[in-house]
Amino acid sequence: MRAGPDEPGSERRHILHAAVIAATGLYTPAERVTNAELVEAFNAFVEIHNTRHAAKIAAGEVEALAPSSVEFIEKASGIKSRYVMNRSGVVDPEIMHPLIPERPNDELSIMAEIGVAAAKDAIARWGKDASHIDAVVCAASNMQRAYPAMAIEIQEALGIDGFGFDMNVACSSATFGIKTAADYIATGSARAVLVVNPEITSGHLNFRDRDSHFIFGDVATAVIVERADQAGSGWDILGTRLKTVFSNNIRNNFGFLNRTAPGSEGAADKLFVQEGRKVFREVVPMVSEMIVTHAADLGIDPTALKRLWLHQANINMNDLIGRRVLGREPTAEENVIILDEFANTSSAGSIIAFHRAHEDFEAGETGLICSFGAGYSAGTVFVRRR
Ligand code: COA
Repeated sequence: MRAGPDEPGSERRHILHAAVIAATGLYTPAERVTNAELVEAFNAFVEIHNTRHAAKIAAGEVEALAPSSVEFIEKASGIKSRYVMNRSGVVDPEIMHPLIPERPNDELSIMAEIGVAAAKDAIARWGKDASHIDAVVCAASNMQRAYPAMAIEIQEALGIDGFGFDMNVACSSATFGIKTAADYIATGSARAVLVVNPEITSGHLNFRDRDSHFIFGDVATAVIVERADQAGSGWDILGTRLKTVFSNNIRNNFGFLNRTAPGSEGAADKLFVQEGRKVFREVVPMVSEMIVTHAADLGIDPTALKRLWLHQANINMNDLIGRRVLGREPTAEENVIILDEFANTSSAGSIIAFHRAHEDFEAGETGLICSFGAGYSAGTVFVRRR
């Protein structure tokens, strides 16, 4: 790893060991929902609501709901479909959320289970045994529960001797996890770190909200970060940087104190809520500038990057950031888009893009993994093929 500048959130100059992304893995749920199916369910729900409350709507006491449309969703977001852990609940207009039964304590939790599936894929591609891993970081935008950590369940399921913990930085969780892993490698705390991103975002999505019912999908990704002097093939991590700036424009107020606040049960802000337009306006410049500045500090010409693996939130955001960073209209190969198939999978999006589109890189070619989201938060990880 190149020593980065002494910038808050960047690596410091005292690095004992360089770090490498040695392998990635992906778990894709078996079920999926297209925009047409989602809109059909939403519009049936609207119909039921408007009929049920017709008298109150006529009296001006309840607002009539407006239907959603496939055309709007595709144009505003670029999303065509999404994978989900449970389809039947999501497309039932009387339910409108996934149906995921609770499991007994002696069974692996569902989030740990999909994390393990992604981790096993990464470990198989790595070609080494899980015993070479010293730490598990489970980095995701929603947690299965407060404790014990999913990371420790995953550690146990994979037979890893070491330590694990969960961390949540919303959509930026994966890059924050990779940096945490690279820092453990740098200081000698671990030889290899497994970073897992299980995202069951359908659980926090309000499928009754017209503005956002189409945004998210479920998936899990895994990244193995390893000491460079022990790694074979893979990707040298050239630099990592993190940034957070407080914003109320993306929130989820679900938490353990909810039950202590009388009258707050069932309130819409206990699920994902956002001011989408403000997010767009504020996050695009913040992230574009962060990428360009970080590249300059590392001596990398951003316009010469072979590829961007950006967080997958919205096609228009990704297009604009791509143009600002590369200084031209990026090609589909330069700015990888997977959100048409997966939707916004929160922290996993940029890792899916990387996982899916890197085989054509020659040794020495450079790209950028970048995530951004609630907080606001953003993370940049520049990588070079070994
Ligand atoms: N179906 C049909 N029409 C819809 C609709 C739906 N599901 N949802 C909203 N509309 C309508 C609105 O009522 C509005 O109509 P009007 O012009 O008559 O008032 C119009 O479409 C535009 O709505 P708006 O909310 O301004 O759309 P937008 O183009 O800003 O797109 C987002 C909305 C959320 C997709 C977009 O702002 C976005 O993606 N922002 C980035 C947020 C993000 O990605 N966050 C994740 C974390 S990084």
